[in-house]
Amino acid sequence: MSTFDQNQTYLLQTDHTTYAFAVNADGRTQHLYWGPKIADAAGIPSPVIPTERSSFDMPHHQTPEEYSGYGGVNYTDPSLKISFGDPSLGTTVRDLDLRFFEASQIDDHTLRITLRDQLFTLSVDLHYRAHPKYDLIERWVSIRNDSDLEIQVERVVSARWILPIERRYDFHHMHGRHAEEFQRVQEPLTYGIKRIESKRVTTSHHHAPWWALEEAAGEEFGEVWFGTLAWSGNWMINAEVTDYDSTRVSVGWNDWDSAYKLKKGAVATTPSAFAGYTGGGFGAASRQMHAYVNENILPHKGITHPVLYNSWEATYFDVDETSQIELAKKAAAMGVELFVMDDGWFHNRVVDNAGLGDWRPDAKKFPNGLGGLISAVKKFGMDFGLWLEPEMVNPDSDLYRAHPDWVISFPNRPRTEARGQLILNLAMSEVQAYLVDTIAKLLAEYDISFIKWDMNRNISEPGWQTSPGDARELWVRYTEGVYAVWGELARRFPTVIWQSCSGGGGRADWGILRYADQVWISDNTEAVSRLSIQEGFTQFMPASVMEAWVTDWGAAKVPLGFRFDVSMSGILGIGGNLNHWREDELTLAAEKVALYKTIRHLIVGGDLYRLLSPREGAITAAQYTAKDGSEAVVFVYRVFQIDLKPVAIITPRGLVADRMYRVDGQNQIRSGEGWMNSGFRVTLGNLESKIIKIEAV
Ligand code: DGJ
Repeated sequence: MSTFDQNQTYLLQTDHTTYAFAVNADGRTQHLYWGPKIADAAGIPSPVIPTERSSFDMPHHQTPEEYSGYGGVNYTDPSLKISFGDPSLGTTVRDLDLRFFEASQIDDHTLRITLRDQLFTLSVDLHYRAHPKYDLIERWVSIRNDSDLEIQVERVVSARWILPIERRYDFHHMHGRHAEEFQRVQEPLTYGIKRIESKRVTTSHHHAPWWALEEAAGEEFGEVWFGTLAWSGNWMINAEVTDYDSTRVSVGWNDWDSAYKLKKGAVATTPSAFAGYTGGGFGAASRQMHAYVNENILPHKGITHPVLYNSWEATYFDVDETSQIELAKKAAAMGVELFVMDDGWFHNRVVDNAGLGDWRPDAKKFPNGLGGLISAVKKFGMDFGLWLEPEMVNPDSDLYRAHPDWVISFPNRPRTEARGQLILNLAMSEVQAYLVDTIAKLLAEYDISFIKWDMNRNISEPGWQTSPGDARELWVRYTEGVYAVWGELARRFPTVIWQSCSGGGGRADWGILRYADQVWISDNTEAVSRLSIQEGFTQFMPASVMEAWVTDWGAAKVPLGFRFDVSMSGILGIGGNLNHWREDELTLAAEKVALYKTIRHLIVGGDLYRLLSPREGAITAAQYTAKDGSEAVVFVYRVFQIDLKPVAIITPRGLVADRMYRVDGQNQIRSGEGWMNSGFRVTLGNLESKIIKIEAV
């Protein structure tokens, strides 16, 4: 059993870790332990109430509470902040004192702890679920208003994760911008709060919802505490070191510009925050996350994604039946399995400031609808996929002319158009119904196996005139609307595969992975820049969802083989203008596609080892190893650097110590132990890459 209460101590056990907290003599939940496994509760420290140091440092202020209300003498980053008007007093109260009320064991791995405010009938359920095999803990919270008053929730986090006290951690996170997503950052965490967040209504290009803390860890060694939030809207991760050297990370909906009204009896439930501990460095942390996503979150688990061609960088808005059939024919000849037509196909979409919202084929570009193109694609032996941007509308569209009140804006205020477009308010049920209806019609009429769901701007002027509650609920309700539309379409068309895209990697998170099997991680398709973008992405997302195209970006300098090898370490796609590719390039492409088909099962189902980081030198290497260690593939890349010695020593990982292996290009058969300890040499020139297969013999 994973959880139990004995003397009001609660344990969450995973295969290799233990997480423990208790109820202290004050009736508060107090964090006790999170780290390597302690099998027996007798090994867990008991709760102690800190002593009052001065009137400025009272015990409550120093208690590492699992979840704390804003109120009393608690000055640390609160988990929950509410206000409520009390008519009997004629005042607004902003004070919360959460104490333990009851615990319920839901199943072997799931626990619910109910806290209540002392005077006010507000219940807070803290949900904990251990995922033993993945060494992850999942937490979420629901708040119920049991009073007659209306409560305003100003902040509610999904979890506060408390780390071992009195240590000096480095905080790892990712920053970025459009076309430069998922860049790793490492900085010492000192007293105060460091926040990373999204305020843009999508997950954002600017920070990724991933955190990690460590004192002395590397890629494959050392203790790391890490986590993420399964949410695709505004989020925050607040990493705090208190005055008493307690380090904690609060993760949840962003409280920026946020408010949530809870009427009598109403319940608000947060998304899940996941976190884990490992003694095996960042690599092990990522593998725990990858395995969890692959085996528990994705809608179509274990599928092998077809090699796709996407028309965007070849034809931009200039699509029509003839141009697409021409590309499709060339794509099929190189072994592509799915042809995706990107932006530009729908009514009046001549440039980027018209047409969004009118999801029917443009009559001039496609006089016979999409049927002609789709049957040609099918005849070439490929499936067909289509681009959509459901959440958007151009003022120059029939949809906007019919429903100008559906867009997010404030009346009588200027509204910002970005890329000439406005955002439909997906919090509104009529907008949701329109989208489900319109997209369902398309999917019913045409044989479409794949949809790329794009979202090309961030929110501005976040007004919602017809809001039934507080208009600031938009932040949460919009994202719930996206999930509702996507979920309904996925239910009606269960075989369709969806890709999440927001101008590249603006919507990459564990929340969207419940609907999307793939993520388009960046509009930057230049292979050298892509190395660090892909490395960052894989910190918390598996390569099995990472769509990567080979395009013409950088073609003058970066060889086609290198560009292929970079994309082949995820879901291979091709996005160059094939009409401009020479015969020898088309032949090389066909060879690469054929090779990819022999290794993609390792990328989908294997374990990723990031052997050499693009942040640390001119040579990058990554290995995907079958779970049973029977085979592996290593990708090695060298970027341009003058005077670098051209040899890299690659030390593979994850092989079976006493099995014998052959490594491509090495004229020796050695044991797994041998290869993993002494490695092998690879010689590479500038902008050269190699794909090396390792096979047990
Ligand atoms: C942004 C996406 O990231 C691109 O791949 C492409 O689909 C364009 N939008 C189309 O407008």
